[in-house]
Amino acid sequence: MLPVMKTPENIFLIGPMGVGKSTIGRQLASMLHKEFRDTDHEIESRTGVDIPTIFDIEGEEGFRKREATVLDELTTDTNLVLATGGGIVMREENRKALRRGFVVYLAANIDTLVERTRRDKNRPLLQNTDKRKKLEELMELRDPIYREEADIIVETDGRSAKAVAKEIIDQLQAA
Ligand code: S3P
Repeated sequence: MLPVMKTPENIFLIGPMGVGKSTIGRQLASMLHKEFRDTDHEIESRTGVDIPTIFDIEGEEGFRKREATVLDELTTDTNLVLATGGGIVMREENRKALRRGFVVYLAANIDTLVERTRRDKNRPLLQNTDKRKKLEELMELRDPIYREEADIIVETDGRSAKAVAKEIIDQLQAA
C-alpha cells in the first residue's frame, strides 16, 4: 500500500514580487488537492478594483490595512495554499498570522525578479522608477525577514513552477 502523504493543513508562500508565488501556488495546490488563494486577488475581489487603484485612492497605508485584514481571515481557513503579497512580512501582526501555517520562502536573484517584472503595470511600487534599484532596496530590507519567518526556503531561479512545487512537497515531507 502507498504511504499516506501527510502535509501541513495550510501552506503560506512568501517572497518578493515576480518570484512566481501565484503560479507556483496554483501548481502546488493542485498537486496537494488543496484550495489556492492569493491575498492580492482577495483584496481585488472584495473591493472590486485593482491594486493600483487602491494605492491611488487610499495610499500604500490603506492597502496594507486591507492586506492585514485579509491575511488574518485567510490564515484561519483550512486546507489552503496561500500566495501572499511581497510586502506582507513587514508588519508584525502579519508575521504572527503567518505562523498559523507552514511558511515557504520562494527565493530568486535580482536578475530573475527584474526579468519577471519587466513589463509589469500592476505593481505600484515598481512604476515610474528604476525597477532593479527598487527591487534591490526592497530585497535588502525584506530578504532577512523572509528567511527569519520561513520554515523552508526554496530557490526558483531557472526552474519551472512544477519543479519548484515538487521540491516544496519533498521538503515538506522531510521537515
Ligand atoms: C507588493 C507586492 C504585490 C502587491 C503590492 C505590494 C510589495 O504583490 O501586494 O503591489 O510590497 O512587494 P506580489 O508580491 O504578488 O507582486
